[in-house]
Parts: sequence; C-alpha cells; structure tokens
Amino acid sequence: MQKLCSLSELEDRQSRGFTIGEDAIFTVRQGQQLYIYRNRCPHLGIQLEWLEDKFLDYDGELIQCSTHGALFTIDEGFCVSGPCGGQSLTPVEHERRGDEIWVQL
Ligand code: FES
Repeated sequence: MQKLCSLSELEDRQSRGFTIGEDAIFTVRQGQQLYIYRNRCPHLGIQLEWLEDKFLDYDGELIQCSTHGALFTIDEGFCVSGPCGGQSLTPVEHERRGDEIWVQL
C-alpha cells in the first residue's frame, strides 16, 4: 500500500484527483467517509473530471462524467443515468491509519 494523503487535507463534500505513477484515481469526502475510485469512466474508459479536481455534479450529490454526463452514486460508484447505466466505477482498496489514507493500486 502507499500513502495517498491525510483526510484533513481533503475538503468535506469535495472531490480531488490524484495521479500516482500511471494510475489516476479520485476521492470524494463526506464527513468522515471517504470514497476512492479509478478515474476511468466505464463508458469510454477516459477520465471523468470537467476541471481539475471537479468530479461532482452541480449539487454535489452525484459523480458526473464530463464527456457524456453519466451520473454515478458517490457511495457505490453505480451509474444511475447515462450511456453506461447499470455499470460501475472501479473502487480503489484503501484503509485509514489515523488521519492518513493508504491505497492499494
Ligand atoms: S465517457 Fe463518460 S459518459 Fe461517455
């Protein structure tokens, strides 16, 4: 596993992109909950964000792909709308060590 960052570096109800070697991933923090997915839309296999670190829709309720607008639940990465409906983002295995977030890529 490798250290990603500290939870306290991530803003609540915000997303953040990371590149580690050749792996692109992103986080969404909701309070003490943290969700981490591969930055790869199941529709075309491309990255999702519309601006740096911007992976959420206008209301911050769903993850949104900037290319064709697919929408994914934050807690499960399940596509509820768009051309990849029924598919899911790939979660990244991770664990907390105190305030630190460690990921398995
Ligand atoms: S590439 Fe994401 S919805 Fe088409």
